[in-house]
Amino acid sequence: MKKVLFSFTVALATSLGITDCHAQNKFIINADQGKEMISKHIYGHFSEHLGRCIYGGYWVGEDSPIPNTRGIRNDVVQALRDIRIPNLRWPGGCFADEYHWKDGIGPRNLRPKMVNTHWGGVVEDNSFGTHEFLDLCEQLDCEPYICGNVGSGTVEEMSKWVEYITFDGESPMSNLRKQNGREKPWKVKFWGVGNENWGCGGNMTASFYADQYRRYATYCRNYGENRLYKIAGGPNAGDYNWMETLMKSAAGQMQAVSLHYYTVPKDWSDKGSATRFDEAEYFQTIQKTLLMDELLTRHSSIMDNYDPAKKVALAPDEWGTWYNVEPETNPGFLYQQNTMRDAIVAAINLNIFNAHCDRVKIANIAQTINVLQAVILTEGERMVLTPTYWVYRLYKAHHDATLLPLHLTSGKYELNDKSMSAINVSASMDASGKVHISLVNIDPHKTQNIEGELRGVAPKSVSGEILTSSKLDDYNSFERPNTVGIKKFTGAKLNKSGISVALPPLSVVMLEIE
Ligand code: AHR
Repeated sequence: MKKVLFSFTVALATSLGITDCHAQNKFIINADQGKEMISKHIYGHFSEHLGRCIYGGYWVGEDSPIPNTRGIRNDVVQALRDIRIPNLRWPGGCFADEYHWKDGIGPRNLRPKMVNTHWGGVVEDNSFGTHEFLDLCEQLDCEPYICGNVGSGTVEEMSKWVEYITFDGESPMSNLRKQNGREKPWKVKFWGVGNENWGCGGNMTASFYADQYRRYATYCRNYGENRLYKIAGGPNAGDYNWMETLMKSAAGQMQAVSLHYYTVPKDWSDKGSATRFDEAEYFQTIQKTLLMDELLTRHSSIMDNYDPAKKVALAPDEWGTWYNVEPETNPGFLYQQNTMRDAIVAAINLNIFNAHCDRVKIANIAQTINVLQAVILTEGERMVLTPTYWVYRLYKAHHDATLLPLHLTSGKYELNDKSMSAINVSASMDASGKVHISLVNIDPHKTQNIEGELRGVAPKSVSGEILTSSKLDDYNSFERPNTVGIKKFTGAKLNKSGISVALPPLSVVMLEIE
């Protein structure tokens, strides 16, 4: 009898269009209780001398028919300025611990050619070096983040690189810089002391690296008004011992410690294809990407023991999806396409970083152009903006805004015998008092009807933008570059207590509430 009554009630509610009488999906935002700022540097990028990221991606040379400014592609610069790229990490990656910066200065025709042993064994002619990188950062109006060589370089070499770039006076290195055409020093804030020193950066133990870090960092000096923000080479994913050892030994000598975690759908021997995957693989990708939250929580709690005042930041300066390379491309070039799945991954990770912004102050997606989870793909003079690029466009609204405390109750996205929360969300308030809410509907089938309570504000209007597509594996190709992009979103309405949102399946939405 009870069952019949329940079915009748549901049928009646449905016929009246009341499908949401016990809304499963709810959020409460306390808009007057924000404390922490979401650093814009969480939206940073990483570009290595790897495959076609630097060469072909940014650098085409001054004589190229591709429109450029001093050898750097104009279309790429404009696209990255449009997402207000805040910082750029360079020259690696694994390449950083093999890079000797003096090979990349002076007249280009005299620079030595070397083999890029890590990435495809191709010739590196060093035509893109320190001056070109810092010119690129000036064109992009972003902060450079330079990663120095600990694995195969000397303390002297790293110390001189800092002097060459930032010293404003008479010294052998500043004179050399002037000889090479740059009179005034550059300002460089972010300085990495090695990369993945547990692996390609020298296969060190945690305690050996901690000692090396202290030694190298000592000689990275602050010249004039330049203040280095030193970033130690941190753990691989869940290597908590590395974090513990480093913090115990060197927390007082660093401003941040890096963390590397890649989302690999299957396993390292067969990572899965970027474009040919089924829903089960999508589900697994999202499960794996959600691990970022646990990693940040657990590493932060170790850091709290040594640095309760949170002076040392956690910097996930390499993250993103990593698939098998596209068929018939150089396996050492790590070139992969980028679908709606990647957009969902990007949005989730950025929401996670926002949530941890009391500790996470800088993060860098790997890698900006033509490598791994790229925001831009190029082929000759052609350029394509990927679904991940459009997430960065939407999320500009969170840059340097105040994180708003949020409580979410989410329905489930279920597949076979597994389930996860269907919704992922983050909210912030900008300097002008506008509230921005980034919402992700992970479920590729169901619209999520959400009731949002907004406490501490009296909203007058809501507008929004949406990134969505009908298929998980939709992507932007050179032939069809506009398959996935941003559109106006009209599925949010203000009501007495806040807002109702009908969030379409497989979508990323940014709402603006005034
Ligand atoms: O991003 C590709 C590579 O991944 C980087 O060079 C290295 O740091 C990491 O293992």
